[in-house]
Amino acid sequence: MKIIKTMVCLGAFMLALGTQAQVAKKILGERHAMIKLEQGKKYLLLPVEEKEEHAHIRVVRNNQLVKTINCRLAVNNVDYFVPYEIGEGELFDITFNGNMRSTGAINDFTCWKRMTYSDTFDTKNVEKHRPLYHHTPQYGWMNDPNGMFYKDGVWHLCYQFNPYGSQWENLSWGHSTSTDLINWKTEPTALEPDALGMMFSGCCVVDKNNTAGFGKDAIVALYTTAGARQTQSLAYSTDGGKTFTKYADNPIITSNVPDFRDPHVFWNAEAGFWNMILAAGQQMSIYSSKDLKEWKHESDFGAEYGNHVGVWECPDLMKMNVKGTNKDKWTLICNINPGGPFGGSATQYFIGQFDGHKFTCEDEPSETKWMDYGKDHYATITFDNAPEGRHVGIAWMSNWQYANQVPTKQYRSANSIVRDFGLFEYKGETYCSITPAKEMLAARGARVSQPTEACEIVVTVKGDAQITLRNAKGERVVMTYDDEEETFDMDRRRSGNISFSDAFPVATSSPTYGKVRQLRIFVDRCSVEAFDGDGKMCMTNLVFPSTPYDKIIVKGKAKAAIYKIKTQN
Ligand code: FRU
Repeated sequence: MKIIKTMVCLGAFMLALGTQAQVAKKILGERHAMIKLEQGKKYLLLPVEEKEEHAHIRVVRNNQLVKTINCRLAVNNVDYFVPYEIGEGELFDITFNGNMRSTGAINDFTCWKRMTYSDTFDTKNVEKHRPLYHHTPQYGWMNDPNGMFYKDGVWHLCYQFNPYGSQWENLSWGHSTSTDLINWKTEPTALEPDALGMMFSGCCVVDKNNTAGFGKDAIVALYTTAGARQTQSLAYSTDGGKTFTKYADNPIITSNVPDFRDPHVFWNAEAGFWNMILAAGQQMSIYSSKDLKEWKHESDFGAEYGNHVGVWECPDLMKMNVKGTNKDKWTLICNINPGGPFGGSATQYFIGQFDGHKFTCEDEPSETKWMDYGKDHYATITFDNAPEGRHVGIAWMSNWQYANQVPTKQYRSANSIVRDFGLFEYKGETYCSITPAKEMLAARGARVSQPTEACEIVVTVKGDAQITLRNAKGERVVMTYDDEEETFDMDRRRSGNISFSDAFPVATSSPTYGKVRQLRIFVDRCSVEAFDGDGKMCMTNLVFPSTPYDKIIVKGKAKAAIYKIKTQN
């Protein structure tokens, strides 16, 4: 009894001093350590130092490998913590990589002093650039949007997610849901890496007629397992997307093409079967299936079409009406990295016809149509089962040229605002129109006289116009519309912090395919997205001002009305 009392007092004393018991580790060599994870607390909080190389953590339970994690465990300084959720009887078998780590100093690494067991992980925002109305992960790294679907009034958005650091690694599918496309709730991670590889990009479909046999309205995820080779795998959910079970017979499609990924699947009502489009090297491969499990290769598209400067990734294929006509056409989306109009990642698309077997392009092979002429618009895909026949898409708002370096730490990357897609004709050609999703109108709040950190600026345009957003430090974004040339430019070369990458300070320029009479400009803490009111042009750019832009200067034949965006954040 006396001993227990003394121990309790000692514990209280240590807490009072702010010291914490160090995690018991065993050093087994100059690069090797083990930790038997204590039971009783929910998490082990891992200290991360981004400039360090990865430590490779093998999680072992009952002599079996449970999972592997790559985490930049801190050697000198801690940038932030990430939570590891402790399972029963687990052991960390850690191998450190990197030169500076082989100096024999492993015993003194900061990570041992700062690792702690905890029942909680604080996700309160600490980033001044975190957007107020764009989707971001609570913590960790995010790239492409994945597995997007709508069901029973809820929009589901999965995403490429690293839960163990704010840089690309350990690809899992994070998951968020929303009922208004503006406020997002974090859900448990949907898919974690397995023995077939990391969880790369893919889609979800609502299987309304139980074609796969997992149940009526099952949610079926089709995604790339990125191991030694890239293969396609399947998982399903019978609880509306809360939890997923991986199909026992994965992978369902294999190939000897090294870049073979990002399946996008949709029900082709006219053909009466499912279609899949996926990126295979420098083309898009098209498949068909009756049951989502057995797939038949139908054809390939694109080797001679469009831009081939970079890798083809993240496709989509959809049928839409051409505005003002009774014609329907198909749009094939092809994200490409690098090769974008201003360097790095971007989204090109092709217009044509599709019969369930073959996509026939009506564009000239040499022509490239870009969906968005900003620098930060990538991996654009659409939601399955969107209501009212809408084609609702979202883009990852970054660029592979600097995505891992942007000046945030707690998390990295945001998604664009949600957009409605359509088609329009201009000078005999068909183009994809992009407008802010109609939900953005519902988010319009009070009218204000100057920009705020989260606002929409509606500009009525009657000719040449220049709109400048600036802050007291003189940091600014300058947007110029040339009515005669029919071009819109955005210059972020003096927008704030531009120093983290030489590829960041640029001015981007877009054709407007006719006269612009209204601009809708969405400003959030780290982005400016400009749309032509009719959807003929859009431009998405990141910015990192040291304080929000709080002044607008409008020159030329234009008038601006500014509205705050209503958000719960
Ligand atoms: C596109 C991409 C995809 C891939 C994923 C991996 O940004 O390269 O092709 O599935 O990211 O994170």
